[in-house]
Amino acid sequence: MAEKKLKIALVGLGPIGTLHIDNLTGGKVKNAELVAVCDMRKVDNPKIASLPFYEKLEDMLANCDADAVVAATPSFTHFNLAKTCLEAGKHVLVEKPISLCSFDAKRLGEIAKRAGKTCAVMLNQRTTPIYKRIKNLVSSGEIGKVNRVSWNMSNWYRPQIYFDMSSWRGLWKGEAGGVLINQAIHNIDAFAWIFGLPQSLRAWCKFGKYHNIEVEDEVSAFMQYPDDMTATFITSSGEHPGTNRFEISAEKAYLVAENGKLSISKFKGATLREFTLNTLYAFGTPETEESVEEFDGKGGQHAEVMENFADSILNGKKCDFDSAEGALSLTLANAMLLSGIENRDVCFPFDDEAYAKALAEKQANSRLRENVRKDFILDFNKSFR
Ligand SMILES: NC(=O)c1ccc[n+]([C@@H]2O[C@H](COP(=O)([O-])OP(=O)(O)OC[C@H]3O[C@@H](n4cnc5c(N)ncnc54)[C@H](O)[C@@H]3O)[C@@H](O)[C@H]2O)c1
Repeated sequence: MAEKKLKIALVGLGPIGTLHIDNLTGGKVKNAELVAVCDMRKVDNPKIASLPFYEKLEDMLANCDADAVVAATPSFTHFNLAKTCLEAGKHVLVEKPISLCSFDAKRLGEIAKRAGKTCAVMLNQRTTPIYKRIKNLVSSGEIGKVNRVSWNMSNWYRPQIYFDMSSWRGLWKGEAGGVLINQAIHNIDAFAWIFGLPQSLRAWCKFGKYHNIEVEDEVSAFMQYPDDMTATFITSSGEHPGTNRFEISAEKAYLVAENGKLSISKFKGATLREFTLNTLYAFGTPETEESVEEFDGKGGQHAEVMENFADSILNGKKCDFDSAEGALSLTLANAMLLSGIENRDVCFPFDDEAYAKALAEKQANSRLRENVRKDFILDFNKSFR
């Protein structure tokens, strides 16, 4: 018997919506089928020519028999759009970020619970094999207690036209942040997924340092964890070539992830602390066993997330990307932004509501861009890092 498929309606047919169309119509999501599409502008795409097309979400919700909606519209629309879908009795998978702040992400969780529906977020980089491997090495205890982490993710370069070609990018009103909320949200998510949230942080955010934008395009953050772990996270959308170097110093091993390779230096015979306290060699260093693991693929990415979403609805499997997971990365990103804006340490548990109010004040003076550049050249595949 053919496997039951989740009927999906897609709203937002821009670059990422087009990738979802390719995945759904190209058989990459085995347990889902595309049954309707919606965009406020007419979209000419032969792959959806036979599907019902709606200009308004409300018309699609009222007229199509989809079980779930995938939302791939600009970030500032996510909260209201997801709320509307949930209250109309549809499950919803929202593109990242799930909303503009963690307060709203948590509210979506409550709305979904009341509606008895699933609200999930497209955090596709959790499927990246190298991140899965690091998570496993940390959470299994294989590398021992983690002492210090450093992630320099500065290769999210974007030129000015990337912002100017849209009404919403790079604006408090449109996405409520820059590199932290749009590009590095994937790394922040992987970071919080692996290590959880810190007890406090301090971040230096530079707003419009490289671009004519309102929001941050460079961030250096320092974090302290309750078990004495310290961490730094650096990101930028203004540097080139930048780097993506993720280092983890732990009691049983030292890890470096860079260029798709994970180098593991395992301490032989004793933990780092045991060696440090007991060796008689004044300039001695611990003996290590070296290995390098190579990861050639990027994993299932967007199709894998969608398959998990469909599986959770059709077969009761755990949804690995629900709204609480979406709130996690936003909490960390919002806390870094707040620290940068107010030039102070931020402690956890994070006051989501206070941040939502601070954000509303920033947004009160922000407007969506009216004169959008049309002379851009789009090479969307180059957007992924
Ligand atoms: N997960 C990823 O890898 C990834 C990659 C790129 C973008 N994104 C996210 O996807 C979202 C969309 O990004 P994009 O680059 O495709 O944006 P975009 O602005 O280029 O395209 C959005 C599309 O949505 C349509 N739209 C806007 N408001 C609408 C509404 N109310 N109803 C119906 N249609 C509407 C627009 O006409 C447009 O076609 C953003 O939130 C972004 O952060 C995720």
